[in-house]
Amino acid sequence: MALRNIVKDGDEILNKKCRPVVKFDRKLHTLLDDMAETMHHARGVGLAAPQVGILRRVVVIDVSADQNEVLELVNPEIIAYSGEQEGLEGCLSFPGEWGIAKRPNYVKVRAQNRNGEEYEIEGRELLARAFCHEIDHLNGIVFKEKVERMLTPKEIEEMND
Ligand code: CO
Repeated sequence: MALRNIVKDGDEILNKKCRPVVKFDRKLHTLLDDMAETMHHARGVGLAAPQVGILRRVVVIDVSADQNEVLELVNPEIIAYSGEQEGLEGCLSFPGEWGIAKRPNYVKVRAQNRNGEEYEIEGRELLARAFCHEIDHLNGIVFKEKVERMLTPKEIEEMND
């Protein structure tokens, strides 16, 4: 496994739509392994392939407290959602920036695993938020386009106190 470089704000790759994965090969497995390592290293709860410069529909998420429950989503699609939550949201491609975003409180996703097998997974609260945020990345949408407002530097300072 290896750490990959995380693409930052201003790189136009973050605004591009990703293509579906069609080959479930060793190259995909390496990408998934590297993305999980990169996400954990950066202390994030999710990472999408365009954030490491790959325009493919691949996402890793880990909302567990111990950061040891990686979800791998290949070609994910939101097939149901309900409710609403409003909360703080950030992104590894926008370090130090935070916004308040409304998201559904429940999200159901259909995806494939690393071997191409289809499965469904449900998430609530933080996991639902992560599904929405990461799948947006695959469509070239970043969280700043979804926020009600961004926090001011003063608010971020107070948050860190
Ligand atoms: Co992000």
